[in-house]
Amino acid sequence: MKIVAIVGSLRKGSYNRQLASTIQERHAQKFDLEILDIGQLPHYDQDTEFNPSESVTVFKRKLKEADGVIIITPEYNWSIPGVLKNALDWLSRVDKVLVGKPVMTAGAATGLMGTLRAQLHLRQILTALQVKLLPPVGNEILINQASAKFDDATGRLADEATLKFIDDVTDRFVDFISE
Ligand SMILES: Cc1cc2nc3c(=O)[nH]c(=O)nc-3n(C[C@H](O)[C@H](O)[C@H](O)COP(=O)(O)O)c2cc1C
Repeated sequence: MKIVAIVGSLRKGSYNRQLASTIQERHAQKFDLEILDIGQLPHYDQDTEFNPSESVTVFKRKLKEADGVIIITPEYNWSIPGVLKNALDWLSRVDKVLVGKPVMTAGAATGLMGTLRAQLHLRQILTALQVKLLPPVGNEILINQASAKFDDATGRLADEATLKFIDDVTDRFVDFISE
């Protein structure tokens, strides 16, 4: 099974990027997870959508070929980062590669709300994109106070209860893809 991850933070030490790597490592036996680089994408421009740059073409092809997508996002000003919205806007047009695509979401923030507001906005956007969203009830990965849950030395998520929950949700996502 081939799954791709889109991470909404470009920061080198990003908790959300580390979360993607954590899922990649812990589920390597079940699926191949490729973490895509959305920082290379140009700003969405409707004038170029039928003849976009190579980075957009490759990005859309990887999404099209994937069995499922994991979107992992921080919260910026109570919403998703602009760089993630930009990537989703590219995916929403011409060949609409996310229509019917199984998607799960997750997020980590340093604040108390754990990306709740960002993920609510993200779900609204994903509805417009007509994805097949993993039902959020019981599957909401909302990591709050991230600086206390990630190991400073390794950068990896180190909170056992959170790791167990993420494993369970990811397993349910694999089943959801296979349904
Ligand atoms: C521009 C900006 C806006 C932010 N807004 C929020 C916010 O609305 N809610 C929140 O919980 N954290 C907010 N934060 C803090 C992030 O949760 C924190 O920087 C987190 O580490 C970002 O994720 P990353 O580690 O994957 O880059 C904001 C950070 C930045 C840089």
